[in-house]
Amino acid sequence: MGGYAEVVSQMEYDLAISIGVPPTRIIFNGPLKHPEDLEKAILAGSTVNLESLEEVEIVEALAQRLPEQNIAVGLRCNFEIDTSRISRFGFDVAGGELDRAFQRLTELSNCDVDGLHCHISTSARSTDSYARRTQKIIELTDYYFKDKQPRFIDIGGGFYGKMTDDLKSQFDGCIPNYQEYAAAVAPQLQSKYPGNSGPELIIEPGVAIVSDVLNFVAKVVGLKKVRSRQIALVVGSVHNVKPTGTDKNLSLRVYRDEENSAQRKLAGPVDIVGYTCMEHDCLYKDYSGEIGIGDYTVVENMGAYTVVFKPPFIRPNPPIISYDSIQDEYKLIRRRETSQNVFSTYIL
Ligand SMILES: Cc1ncc(COP(=O)(O)O)c(C=O)c1O
Repeated sequence: MGGYAEVVSQMEYDLAISIGVPPTRIIFNGPLKHPEDLEKAILAGSTVNLESLEEVEIVEALAQRLPEQNIAVGLRCNFEIDTSRISRFGFDVAGGELDRAFQRLTELSNCDVDGLHCHISTSARSTDSYARRTQKIIELTDYYFKDKQPRFIDIGGGFYGKMTDDLKSQFDGCIPNYQEYAAAVAPQLQSKYPGNSGPELIIEPGVAIVSDVLNFVAKVVGLKKVRSRQIALVVGSVHNVKPTGTDKNLSLRVYRDEENSAQRKLAGPVDIVGYTCMEHDCLYKDYSGEIGIGDYTVVENMGAYTVVFKPPFIRPNPPIISYDSIQDEYKLIRRRETSQNVFSTYIL
């Protein structure tokens, strides 16, 4: 749809290339870029945002080795937006690290800094924090680019995505929509760069784009009561749906086949638990509806940081099926893993 691929490792860079993204449409961020990978990405025309003075040294060496080559890089800035923690990413603005990086790169005759980047995740994800980071990055571009204009301004990701009402109700404060985020960012840039000739504004939404595109389906295979606790076992695990350890209950729907309606059932509250040997393996706490053997539980809003975070713990990964609502077609897009897939890199 015209977006870039934003990657934070060579593995992700390789993945973008293998699904057909041209190198010039890749933004390469992240704290660990090996010298050969960083050089290759710069020479291929990707947007590479440097993170550290070690990466500046790699670029210096490249520029000196290839004096005829024009090199352009972006710099990731680290400034305070959220006082609850000190981010480890990017060049510290207040401590002068960004200054040092800028100076060293602009001293090279064949190297340009062509944009500034930041990505700051905050728990509140508020529009106010996006207004403040936009303001700060405009101040920095004013200072570093003076009369010249950067090619891009990249304010990173960290936005809320679309979610069901019952998930929304578990967050404190307001959940801004896309338009509200845009209203916090765009007018500041519009007034700084009127018309259409300003730098390219880049955003890097991850969760906001993918969280509502994936559901997890698991069949109910066991029911039990242990003193005051009612339990339903499903062929799934908390590692499938909440591998990052959120304490929220993702939205859950239960589907029942007519044939199963006479089967054994429990009426809520029921804890829906998984196949691992861990006590904490609970996909959903206190489900209030009715649930029976053979039913299917569907966990929604689990598209971000789930598939890649699922460890090969206790069971291999499930298949992934895509649904095309226009054609009303289903397609297998990842095969069910087997034990052999899990063992394949071990030397037995
Ligand atoms: C540099 C960078 N940009 C964008 C993102 C996406 O963040 P989110 O999924 O919170 O939008 C990440 C995630 O960690 C990131 O590291």
